[in-house]
Amino acid sequence: MQERVSWGSRIGLILAAAGNAVGLGNILRFPSKAALYGGGAFMVPYFIALLLLGFPLMIVEWVIGRYAGRRGHGSMTGILGLFFNHASWARILGSIGVAIPLLICMYYIYIESWTLGFAFLSLFGQMPTPVISSDTHEAVKPYVSFFKEYTKPSTMAYLFLLLTIAINWFILQKGLRKGIEITAKIGMPAIIIFGVFLGLICISANEWKGFEGLKFIYNLNFSKILDPVVWVEASGQIFFTLSLGMGAIAVYASYAGAKEDVVKAGLWTASINEFVEVVIGASIAIPAAFAMFSAVAIPELAKEGTFRLGFMTMPAVLMNFPSGWLISFIWFLLLFLAALTSSLALIQPLIALFEDEMKWEHTKAVTVSMILITLGAHFSAFMPDFIDELDFWAGCFMLLGFGLIEIIVFVWIFGINNFYKELKLNTTLRLPKLFVYIVAIVSPIFIFVILYFWVIRDFKNVVFTDSITKIVARLFILLFLVFLSVIAVKSREIVMRDIRYMR
Ligand code: PHE
Ligand code: NA
Repeated sequence: MQERVSWGSRIGLILAAAGNAVGLGNILRFPSKAALYGGGAFMVPYFIALLLLGFPLMIVEWVIGRYAGRRGHGSMTGILGLFFNHASWARILGSIGVAIPLLICMYYIYIESWTLGFAFLSLFGQMPTPVISSDTHEAVKPYVSFFKEYTKPSTMAYLFLLLTIAINWFILQKGLRKGIEITAKIGMPAIIIFGVFLGLICISANEWKGFEGLKFIYNLNFSKILDPVVWVEASGQIFFTLSLGMGAIAVYASYAGAKEDVVKAGLWTASINEFVEVVIGASIAIPAAFAMFSAVAIPELAKEGTFRLGFMTMPAVLMNFPSGWLISFIWFLLLFLAALTSSLALIQPLIALFEDEMKWEHTKAVTVSMILITLGAHFSAFMPDFIDELDFWAGCFMLLGFGLIEIIVFVWIFGINNFYKELKLNTTLRLPKLFVYIVAIVSPIFIFVILYFWVIRDFKNVVFTDSITKIVARLFILLFLVFLSVIAVKSREIVMRDIRYMR
């Protein structure tokens, strides 16, 4: 078997993994969800899910990713196969873990292209002039029409979509070290600097009225503690933001050397991501909205759609600052860099599938992957409801389900002792065995319980629909699952041949 590629340095690996996790989820999705589900009421399940699901599963994916990488597999199709003697059914099950990031990427990359487009429009003074008004609707109106006009989609939006796809394509073609790693080395520090800068501006805006927004998020309360929807959404956000439950972390970990300290790497990844989420992410969009509008406007604005808060409210606020165009530019550039390092990570599982399982060479793997992404992005651009429908099914529900499968296979089926032995291999931080029991018992019960109550109470309302576009979106999801299953079964022969060859 040929030598698998690997990261160039330890710092490169950490920054790449941080770039993977830190994305639109931190700066747009998180504040939108928090606003929609009541600020401090959302944060209670959020922090519980972070401790019981987020940190544990992050370590699991790192441990298993390194383990699988040494055996030549990076995609979930190959990884799940490893634990069942490469049985077809296991590879098919693993395909769900490749389908999820692929489906997420199909809308994620479209939103990424808006950030690039809006960054350019800000830079060249093309954003609408701000209206001075204390009435929320009046003040945001020009930006709402501007956004709606842009995302129709306009020719401009379409060109920026193509440009964004081209940028991703180019970087991925360069490969792991020269592409993904370098992008993260430049992108991550920039994200932190721009993020801190904007956070300070937004909190202090309008004589510190922005600070009220931070209080809204951190005024922890138990008012929604019995609402399963809030639990599902908060846990879904933890998975989404940490890139868990779909093998996106495992695939990066599979390119780590056997000597890599995966416990440390996992803790770094999760900590950087959470810093950029609950410190920086919490300090920008919501405080900005509070600074300018009354608190009542917040849930109203969030209802516009999960990712849209930042494209209407934010420029409406930022354009009011002195040199507003520049601040607006920094905001969209920040979003773009965060999104870019994540979309690369959303595509890599598919590339790994083609390279590891089909034994395709790099260029072919990247080309076919990008063609599929381009196809899917067109659905996001031209079909209403597609983004939010995919974000719910792939970006929340399937993540939780696949997270459960990961724990069952990687910890239960692999065996608690085997897993712990693998975890301790070359790691300096001595996690107690209790940790493994938490992953093995508490995390799955947690996922199971919230899904159970959610299914009992809300499943019907969510599933039954007569919206044609929603049904098409779901058929699309199914189609991709079938497609990846076929690849999983077909490529099994190649893997088996390799194994016979090695004996
Ligand atoms: N974690 C990323 C975010 O917060 C999204 C993502 C998920 C990226 C899965 C890669 C893999 O935006
Ligand atoms: Na994130």
